[in-house]
Amino acid sequence: MSSLLDSTGNDFPEKYSTDKAFEDFVAEECEPIGKGTSREVFSVKGKNYVVKKALKESDTTCNWREVTSYLNYVEDRYRLAQIHSWSESGMYLVMEKIEVDSVATSSFDYPAWVTDRKPTNIGRAYDKTIKLCDYASIKSPDLVYKSEFA
Ligand SMILES: Nc1ncnc2c1ncn2[C@@H]1O[C@H](COP(=O)(O)OP(=O)(O)O)[C@@H](O)[C@H]1O
Ligand SMILES: [Mg+2]
Repeated sequence: MSSLLDSTGNDFPEKYSTDKAFEDFVAEECEPIGKGTSREVFSVKGKNYVVKKALKESDTTCNWREVTSYLNYVEDRYRLAQIHSWSESGMYLVMEKIEVDSVATSSFDYPAWVTDRKPTNIGRAYDKTIKLCDYASIKSPDLVYKSEFA
């Protein structure tokens, strides 16, 4: 049975809250579940979301690329783990939780703009939809949609 729940709750800080608000939330509520090259990822017991924390100030650009991609590529949202909130500097980001699942990865249809195509970035959301949880590494929109910018 899935460990994911059908509720995000709304106990995490709202968009553009201070980094301190997210830092306190992570310290009080969260447990580490993963780490990449740029971000550490935390989960909250019984909740259907994770908090990503940039490892260095310069890594906040990863979170911003993920946020702006989520906001911009609306037609791809069905295959992107949803982004719920982020801190004012971009140091923290709150994302829908998925269960990383190697079986799900074989047929995953990546958005054209995503460059990091590792199986560990794909899994199943609560509703069993297969989604991407790391979409911070992206091509320039100019390379993906040449005609728009020609
Ligand atoms: N939304 C999520 N749900 C569940 N696990 C996640 C989620 N986001 C990230 N993870 C786990 O944490 C790892 C590191 O997160 P990731 O976003 O890939 O960081 P980085 O940008 O540093 O590579 C992922 O490979 C994945 O295993
Ligand atoms: Mg990654």
